[in-house]
Amino acid sequence: MTRRVHDELVVVLDFGSQTAQLIARRIREAGVFSMMVRPDLPAHEIRALNPKGIVLSGGPSSVYEAGAPRCDPAVFDLGIPVLGICYGMQLACQTLGGRVSGGSHREFGRANLHVQDRSDLLSAIPERTSVWMSHGDQVTGLGEAGFETLASTPTCPQAAVRLASAGRTFYGVQFHPEVTHTPHGADIIRNFLFEICRCSGTWKMADFAKHEIERIRTIVGKERVICGLSGGVDSSVAAVLIHEAIGDQLTCVFVDNGLLRKNERELVQATFRDHFKIDLRVADAEAAFLSDLAGITDPQEKRRRIGARFIRVFDEAAASIGNARFLAQGTLYPDVIESGHGHAGQSANIKLHHNVGGLPADMKFELIEPLRDLFKDEVRQLGEVLGIPAQIVWRHPFPGPGLAVRVLGEITRPKLDLLRDCDEILLEEIVANELYRRTSQVFAVLLPVKSVGVMGDGRTYDSVVAIRAVETQDFMTADWARIPFDVLATISNRIINEVRGVNRVVYDISSKPPATIEWE
Ligand code: XMP
Repeated sequence: MTRRVHDELVVVLDFGSQTAQLIARRIREAGVFSMMVRPDLPAHEIRALNPKGIVLSGGPSSVYEAGAPRCDPAVFDLGIPVLGICYGMQLACQTLGGRVSGGSHREFGRANLHVQDRSDLLSAIPERTSVWMSHGDQVTGLGEAGFETLASTPTCPQAAVRLASAGRTFYGVQFHPEVTHTPHGADIIRNFLFEICRCSGTWKMADFAKHEIERIRTIVGKERVICGLSGGVDSSVAAVLIHEAIGDQLTCVFVDNGLLRKNERELVQATFRDHFKIDLRVADAEAAFLSDLAGITDPQEKRRRIGARFIRVFDEAAASIGNARFLAQGTLYPDVIESGHGHAGQSANIKLHHNVGGLPADMKFELIEPLRDLFKDEVRQLGEVLGIPAQIVWRHPFPGPGLAVRVLGEITRPKLDLLRDCDEILLEEIVANELYRRTSQVFAVLLPVKSVGVMGDGRTYDSVVAIRAVETQDFMTADWARIPFDVLATISNRIINEVRGVNRVVYDISSKPPATIEWE
């Protein structure tokens, strides 16, 4: 695969810390492109990327553990400044002749930093500030190698160090500058970038788009590319980016599985076919999906059948397009991490996410994943740069199995239609009350119970609809959104009055965990 070329790049060697991706992100926020690579990437391959700086992330291991991840020791001799954070600092200090001791000094949380040397890395940082620590081992001896102490905390005498000798420029911090709990952390990262690596900080998302478009053109040549379009943010941005690069050589496939929200298919057609002039094929597969799902109540069995049918439908659509060599996917950096295949440059893995159904491994395509170095909010930024309408760029996520996991129990077309009407009213009110951007996911669920009501003079025995609205950063944990009562009242009134067959609306006030976001 052709290498990405950026005017200014900082590479982050990922030793597995949960906050490693935040480092890459802080660097980009400072206007310098950064990418994560596997920790043992050989020094000559790092050099070939021509980075202005190298960051060694933290990680859960101890440098004394057998099999602890290491970097190529030659990275310190490339003449490129290196910043080691936590484990990255310990590893570097050990490699460069310092001493690391373990065990007794475990330290988690806020610590008071005393800055002694403010000449470069800690330039303009207050003499006393707080930093976020999370470590067991720490650097204790600076050996003969010429390390200098820049800052300390009461329990960690070497909280920040410098080694500038024999052509080496190394800085190490025991704390985590990338987390917001370190108030001057972003300043420290900026100092590394601008004072030490001499970056200019002019990178913008528009540059990413430009470089990526060129890269896609080079890879694809005159071949055809197929892209599964779900209407979600990731696949939409990937499709538009690739279309910018190769125009008509791209064909998108949208599977209408009959489990979509109201007018979803129309929105996707209007956006991609009419507006962006993308060659969009719509596979009309509602009947097949609904017949597969008839009588099925178990949520995992629903997912399994939907996934299997998706593959068949997508396969057929792809076959009808003929001789495509590439398959494009909107895999993001967090997907890459989650699937454990990590890191730019390693062999591509199929996104195991239901948004694309989970495609079979024997598909004879080469993958193009133009978003695999980006985080969700960066993908949204990129979407804006590419002129994708806000309605798509800022969409909440929608699960691959769609309304099938929101019609609890058995799925029928009338139930789906009823839920679509409720969902439409709900989203209209959420948008009208300016709550869409303040919530992470909002949807209606049709419960498999009936309840008694009274309408006019008559007694009713109708369906119950639950409203779920959550706020979350990462969808791993979530809290229920504090939607104002007045808005809930309007939503409830409208649903009960406008949707025949619903006589009760309830609001879900469960957090995740222990509840999940979806009900099935
Ligand atoms: P849960 O319900 O697990 O949901 O708290 C977390 C996030 O994942 C979405 N979700 C799915 N997405 N296929 C998907 O593509 C699925 O089978 C699926 N199940 C849940 C859910 O909407 C939420 O954003």
